[in-house]
Amino acid sequence: MNTGDKNGVVGKPVNRVDGHLKVTGGARYAAEFPVAKMTYGVTIQSTIAKGKITQIDTKAAEQVPGVLAVITHLNAPKASGEKGGGRKLQLLQDNIVLYSGQHIGIVVADTFERAMHAASLVKVRYQEEKPTIHMKDNLDKAYVPGGKIPRNEPPDKSHGDVAQALTTAAVRVEETYTTPVENHNPMEPHATTAVWQGNQLLVYDATQGIFSAQQKIAGALGIEPGNIRLMSYYVGGGFGCKGSAWSHVPLAAMAARQVNRPVKLVLGRIQMYGPVGFRPETIQQVSLGATRDGKLTALRHSGTSQTSTFDEFIEPVGKSAGMLYACPNIETSHRLVQLDQGTPTYMRAPGEASGSFALESAIDELAYKLNIDPIELRLRNYAEVDPSNKLPWSSKSLRECYKVGAQRFGWQKRNPKPRSMQDGNYLIGWGMATATYPTNRSPASAITQIMADGTALVRSGSQDIGTGTYTVMTQVAAQALGLPVEKIRFELGDTNMPETPVSGGSQTAASVGTAVHLAGNEARSKLLQLALADQASPLYGANAEDVIAENGSLFLKNKSSKSETYARILARHKMKMIEARADAKPGEEKQKYSMHSFGAQFAEVRVNPDSGEIRVTRWVGAFGVGRILNAKTADSQLIGGIVYGIGMALMEHTLTDPNRGRVVNPDLAEYHVPVNADVPPIEVLFVDENDPHINPLGVKGVGEIGITGVAAAIANAVYHATGKRIRDLPITLDKLL
Ligand code: MOS
Repeated sequence: MNTGDKNGVVGKPVNRVDGHLKVTGGARYAAEFPVAKMTYGVTIQSTIAKGKITQIDTKAAEQVPGVLAVITHLNAPKASGEKGGGRKLQLLQDNIVLYSGQHIGIVVADTFERAMHAASLVKVRYQEEKPTIHMKDNLDKAYVPGGKIPRNEPPDKSHGDVAQALTTAAVRVEETYTTPVENHNPMEPHATTAVWQGNQLLVYDATQGIFSAQQKIAGALGIEPGNIRLMSYYVGGGFGCKGSAWSHVPLAAMAARQVNRPVKLVLGRIQMYGPVGFRPETIQQVSLGATRDGKLTALRHSGTSQTSTFDEFIEPVGKSAGMLYACPNIETSHRLVQLDQGTPTYMRAPGEASGSFALESAIDELAYKLNIDPIELRLRNYAEVDPSNKLPWSSKSLRECYKVGAQRFGWQKRNPKPRSMQDGNYLIGWGMATATYPTNRSPASAITQIMADGTALVRSGSQDIGTGTYTVMTQVAAQALGLPVEKIRFELGDTNMPETPVSGGSQTAASVGTAVHLAGNEARSKLLQLALADQASPLYGANAEDVIAENGSLFLKNKSSKSETYARILARHKMKMIEARADAKPGEEKQKYSMHSFGAQFAEVRVNPDSGEIRVTRWVGAFGVGRILNAKTADSQLIGGIVYGIGMALMEHTLTDPNRGRVVNPDLAEYHVPVNADVPPIEVLFVDENDPHINPLGVKGVGEIGITGVAAAIANAVYHATGKRIRDLPITLDKLL
């Protein structure tokens, strides 16, 4: 039996199934659940970066009408900031200040305004120590991380002899590239609503991982995970900052227990800068050695990034250098410097986004030194197998991406000479870069029920962080079940549902999609077996392979009059529903294949030579990302990634005061992200890719690859326009003048 794959709904540009709820306000986010007797939590944050709290005067705050509790390290119940996995948290257990913006207290009141006012009345005295704030002044303290970088690799890796190959190389590029701290700015800030019902805790949280957040709260407060139900039905963007539960999450639960009423705790935009992670500053050295005809003989990519004094986060900038180009001698390394700032975290394509700026700028510099077209140079070093482990690719369409992207962009019309392409007074630049991101997958489960009325209910824990999980899973279920999308209800976002991984590493489509696909197949197959074995069915005794499931009916392939509806089969058997569960997990494929997405980014910039103003005026991105589940939502993910990359290239930069470690631009007025006027027409092309190895759906994930290569493509275009090579992000006007 099959469901006519070719004509199926998977891949179609189906509108978001939750679109109507979202535009009408019907979609409830973590801070929008009407709970009786709600109270409001507001945190107090440290104003110094390092030292001790010597005095904390809460009297005035406690006397504000409506205030129910002021919790500080002086009266907080016991909690653990280290248990439950994820980041190490600060949960009011002592008077130590580790970074500016650390939550050092929480005020709970019957209204938000009263809580805000009371929090402003808390007086804190500190014994302040001189903090270490900036990485560039402390590079002598760089150390080899104890932990692994993603894919369980050690921080240092090498094959061949890079030092030797560099010495003898005919042509060399050896440059340093730097990227600043950047902060996540999802439209919805972090928010937690905590409700105790006896010893059961209900939590509505804005999270990328309901199960990991559940574990974290359990570990922090010393309660059984089974006593916590975590719900997250809609999330207004994650980008990595909601990939692990931060201190405010268990603090909200702690406060709710203290006041014996529900507590809602929403971080303000300003509070998004400090206690909830950020993309760390990086300093990266790239050394390339090549022959005169452009064969890479040496590739070294060394990255140093910041971490906190109490936790370790490695920005794995060297990951792509290890696998992107065929080269006999490759060395990658990662170092950390501890600063008195919060712990950095994943931010859209952690590692690849910052790392590709350095690597893909350096490749462009080499292309200029060799006088070889940058695409041609990349093709001469095309990796036919993964150089890091010699494994074959599960699929790789990078050559096609270069080709169709270049064609669409008109690359062959490019005069490579800097400042050669002008439009009146303006300098025009064309630049390109490679995009790449690994294909990840984790165990995930789903339950499918075909109901007596011919509809289906599909459930799987998971999250929709704005990427379109509801929609693509509805399509996957519809196709597996042979039902129209309108007949499917897909539910997610509740730890009472089957377990799934965090929505990070672009893995939700591959992980949850596979579970939904398998559970759907299983339910459909159970229904078919009922019909085939039932003398009253027109399909009685038929071969399973001759039966097609479509539009809520089973029918014989060659005799479509022999058919019956799902509803009828269930009714005759007096069944309310048919249920199937799938527990899907990756197999051996990771040992046999190297699994990655690839793409090619093409940028046009227009530079005002008098002011240095840079406008991105055109964009083409071509991607090989496996099977597309929804042409519209996948396109949106890639466009979103490219826009994010434009911000990274030209605007985003978190500035910190060296004395107090305070972020001085913690809002969207001063922390610049691209607005509509900054974004050119963006054309995303998909190269057809049929990957039989990665997972049953053949899907690679599209959340993160879009940002990779973008900053380099822009830096390369700026060089082409102006003849100035900017190796320090963001590329602001002052750097061009
Ligand atoms: Mo993504 S930065 O792995 O949430």
